[in-house]
Amino acid sequence: MAEERTPVPALSAAPRGTYLRNCWYVAAWADALADEPLQRTFLEEPVALFRDGDGVAHAVEGRCPHRFAPLGHGCVSDGALQCPYHGLRFDGTGACVHNPHPGGHLPDARLKVYPLVERHALLWIWMGDPAKADAALIPDFGWLADPKWEAVKGATRAEGHYELYSDNILDLSHANFVHPALVAGAFTEGERRFWQDGDRVHSEYVHLEDYLSEGISAIVGKEGVKQDFYGQVDWHAPAVLYFDFRTGDPGTPREECLLLPSLHAFTPETPDTTHYVWATARDFALGNEEFAAVMRGALEYAFEYEDMPIIRDSHRLMRGGDFWALKPLILGGDGGGVRARRMLQRLIERERQEQAAA
Ligand code: FES
Ligand SMILES: [Fe+2]
Repeated sequence: MAEERTPVPALSAAPRGTYLRNCWYVAAWADALADEPLQRTFLEEPVALFRDGDGVAHAVEGRCPHRFAPLGHGCVSDGALQCPYHGLRFDGTGACVHNPHPGGHLPDARLKVYPLVERHALLWIWMGDPAKADAALIPDFGWLADPKWEAVKGATRAEGHYELYSDNILDLSHANFVHPALVAGAFTEGERRFWQDGDRVHSEYVHLEDYLSEGISAIVGKEGVKQDFYGQVDWHAPAVLYFDFRTGDPGTPREECLLLPSLHAFTPETPDTTHYVWATARDFALGNEEFAAVMRGALEYAFEYEDMPIIRDSHRLMRGGDFWALKPLILGGDGGGVRARRMLQRLIERERQEQAAA
């Protein structure tokens, strides 16, 4: 029996959430888009991703103008996106280029087109004004495409508001409680620092001379040996995060420590669901599939079975309430998350004012 495609989430006529639009969101891993198109919902808008005959990736409106079928559940035929329902085909400019029905008249319909850039092994989508889409604004994740690094990576759909997911990465003090096997007390007990530069927000955790957890010490080959460790998270609006984790023998200069770089990118699907794209890379044990499988297993377990259920249930317990209206307690680890939330609010407000003035 054919596998059922992931259903499109329930959507309302007007978006329920408020989003930053003029910015780059991660749409998918570039290699996840092969011959089959993908149907996705970003910021409550249906989007179809496909590659044309030359392999160039496109993002168009994911709803057919005929009977509103999800175009990303169709196929690619002659380099065009074919609707799964009655077979109209559309090209990367959104124009209808083929009508298989008698007469073959091409309807004068044009799909909305979203700027899409393939970079750093990812597809980046711009959900705002196409005239403002500037590829130079894509954050630098060059290591994801650099053969010096080998990444284990994943993509999943998670329940919960995307800002709860960036809070989780910016506040690593949860690690000791949520990921006892993967991360030791470093992030809960270590020294923390939070700061902002321009639109960016950073969290830093430093912990010297302590044992790593079983999971991390196995990955870096330092079982039973005290280590210095450094963690820095860089947040790019609205929710693309880089996590720089380093560990080394006590006294090793930070830049000479072993580095495990990670990506955590959150793209809102709806106010209640998030696309979560992640990767962690290493520059040792390259080509060692067994090692990669252990690393992937540990990370997947941490995200999918430890982080996601807590965030999902916290989200449900918020009952759709506004984060600030619920008067959350602020703890020492919240310095990054709170700054990122305020920054995002300011950016959304600035965008609203610019739109009103235009
Ligand atoms: S719904 Fe797409 S061709 Fe009919
Ligand atoms: Fe976590």
